[in-house]
Formats: sequence, C-alpha cells, structure tokens
Amino acid sequence: MLREVGMSNNAGSLALDVAPFPKELTCLQVCEFFSSNPDTLTVAVVDGERPIGLVDRDTFLLLFSKQFGHALFDKKPIAQAMDPCPLIVDKAIRIELVGALILNEKPSALLKGFIITEDERYFGVGTALGLLRHSVKRGRERENEIETARRDAVLANETKTQFLANMSHELRTPLNAIIGFSEIMCGELFGPMENEYYKGYAKDIYSSGEQLLGLVNDMLDVAQIESGQMKLREQHCDMHELINICFTQLGSKIQGSGVALIDRTPSALPEVYADDRKLRQILLNLLSNAIKFTPQGGMVSVHARITQKGELRIMVMDTGIGIEQKDISRVLQTFGQVENGYQRKFDGVGLGLPLTKSLVELHGGKLWIKSAVGKGTVVCFTLPPQRISSPAMLAAARA
Ligand SMILES: Nc1ncnc2c1ncn2[C@@H]1O[C@H](COP(=O)(O)OP(=O)(O)O)[C@@H](O)[C@H]1O
Ligand SMILES: [Mg+2]
Repeated sequence: MLREVGMSNNAGSLALDVAPFPKELTCLQVCEFFSSNPDTLTVAVVDGERPIGLVDRDTFLLLFSKQFGHALFDKKPIAQAMDPCPLIVDKAIRIELVGALILNEKPSALLKGFIITEDERYFGVGTALGLLRHSVKRGRERENEIETARRDAVLANETKTQFLANMSHELRTPLNAIIGFSEIMCGELFGPMENEYYKGYAKDIYSSGEQLLGLVNDMLDVAQIESGQMKLREQHCDMHELINICFTQLGSKIQGSGVALIDRTPSALPEVYADDRKLRQILLNLLSNAIKFTPQGGMVSVHARITQKGELRIMVMDTGIGIEQKDISRVLQTFGQVENGYQRKFDGVGLGLPLTKSLVELHGGKLWIKSAVGKGTVVCFTLPPQRISSPAMLAAARA
C-alpha cells in the first residue's frame, strides 16, 4: 500500500509500508516470509531503527534454490545474505531526484528496490513500480493542468475579443458625431466662421476624429477576424483602379513629405476576384507604412507580377529605414511595434501589419516581409491562382 506523506512529490510518498527484518532474523525465517507473502518484492534489514541492507525476493530465493542453499543459509542471520549497499534516500527528496539517482548511480535499484529513511531511521522501501505509478499520476496531473491552462487562455482570448468588439462599437457612435459635426463646421454649412482659429480647430477635430475612427475600425476588424466572423464580399476587381484610388487617397500624406510614390505595375494585369474594400485596406496599410517610414528624398513603389505558380504577387517597396531581421516576426503580431527613436515620432498602435496579413490570408494568400536596415523594406503578398479571373489576361501579364 502506498503511504501518502505530506507533499506527494517527495520520496516519502513512494514508501511501501513493509515491516523490516531485524538483522538477527534467520535466512530460513526470511524464506518462509517470502513464501507466505508472494506480493512483497523487497524488504529492508535494520539494526534497531537504522537500515543496514536490503533483501530482494528474487536474488534471495535464487540463493536458496541453489544446491546446498538451505544447508548453508538456514541458520545464518539475514545480515549475511542481504545486499549491504542498497540505494538509500531520505523521504524529503524529490521523486524526480530519486529517478535520476537510480538512472545515474544505481540502475540495479530498479529491480531490487531501495530504502527510504527519515532522519536516518528506517521509513519504508520503494520500488520501480511506485516510481512508475508516480510518473503516470504526474503525467495525468500535467495533462489536466495543461488542459485547464488551455481553457483559461481560450476564455481570456474570447473575453479580449468581445471587449475589443464592444469597445469599438461604443467608441464609434460618439466619434461619428464628432466627425460629422466638425465636417459641417469646416464646410461652414450654417454660415461662415469668423475667427480663423476656430476654423483651424474644427479641421483638427475632424482629422483627429478620422484618425481615431481608423484605429477603432482596425480594432473591430481584428476582433472580427479573431472570432472568425469576418466575411469577404467578393467581386471582380481591377487592380489598377484600386491602386489609383489608394494613390489619390494618400495624396495629402505624400504632399510635403518629399517621398515619391510610383506605380510600377505592368499595364496588363488580370482582374482579381476579391473583396475590393479589403484589398484597398491591404494596399493602404502597406503604402502608408512605407510612406511613414521613408525619410525625405526616398521612394515608395508598387510592383506586381504573376508567379510560376500562377499567383498574383504584389510588392510594396520603399527606400526607408528598414526593419531589423529579429523584429520582423514581432511587427507581424498584433500590437507589435519596433521600439526605436524614429518609430516614436509616429502615431499608430501596431495593428496595421497583422490585420493586413490576416486580410491577405482570408483571401487564401500569403504575406511576408524582406527588409534591410537603412536600405528599405519590401512587403510582398500573394493572391492565389483561383482568384485570378481571365486566362487570356493572365497570359498577357506573363508575357
Ligand atoms: N515599411 C516599413 N518600414 C519600416 N518599418 C516598418 C514598415 N512597416 C512597418 N514597420 C514597422 O512595423 C511596425 C508595425 O506596423 P503596423 O502594424 O502597421 O503598425 P503601426 O503603423 O500602427 O505602427 C511599425 O511600427 C514599424 O516599426
Ligand atoms: Mg501601420
């Protein structure tokens, strides 16, 4: 029977409650004991309370079954037939350490068992069976712990997603009022604004509101993607048209930044079957990052080609500050930004790239980044062949 002692993770919990043999017991008595206790595998020999050796059933019975075994040993004290150097461990040591001791120092203890002591007094004997039982029990406990941790993590993630979704909804309503009314004021719809300062403030309120709304929308998108609720509204889209719309939208950003924005895509590009709003979002995110992280005099360009596999590959290139190799996986994670002096000059919370990657993946494509610090960055994404509509145009684009 296993005796539970205090924490179940120390050697004491392995101790089998087997009465030890006093050292004077004769071998014949031991032989009779083993015959009438077929389940006892190993017994300690003690001198008073101090263990001095171990007798394991198999070794002992083998000795006895030899020719003249009885004649030689019957009357001898068990102390002369025991193993005088068994493995002895204190009950307080960790079971893992017992296992390591057996493996490294005394493998024979796996067959013969070992003695467990408390303050050097006999406490019990341990066997490989006990170790095995413990390891099975620990394995089960670990499995339960991992399962509980996994469930907690899933719940926490769902809570976070729900919180993001709720917050975004709550923020959008007042933001719409801020944007709507400041737009009316900027346009002086109900009469002119006399004071120039007020006009300037109204413009600031409007652009700050728009910026916040962009952020809130990104958060809502992340929440939707994470909860698997984002659906694509697909249609046939003209890539050139999409790129033009993005360039126009970015016009004000590029003005005065001293960065050139160039379309280097081939004139014959196939139509793609995709969600045009999301495709525009992908391009806008990549282009605005490229502009944001490219200092004056630099260049941002868009390239496209059909790959060997028949995918459409779009590349947004810049000659900007670049991203260190070690940071690339981080910037693709939600809220991941690179900490450096240049970066802190800009707003943003690190949602753009992970969101963009998810939007590409939602279309069945892939997104990756190549970058060299101080030279520039290329963000590539693909759309799979089944999204590219006309084979004739495809051939033209390949030519
Ligand atoms: N074209 C780029 N050049 C250099 N760094 C970039 C570029 N695009 C993204 N990064 C880095 O990746 C980070 C994450 O980008 P993103 O997810 O779009 O978030 P945000 O724009 O809100 O910072 C940026 O803060 C920046 O450090
Ligand atoms: Mg960004």
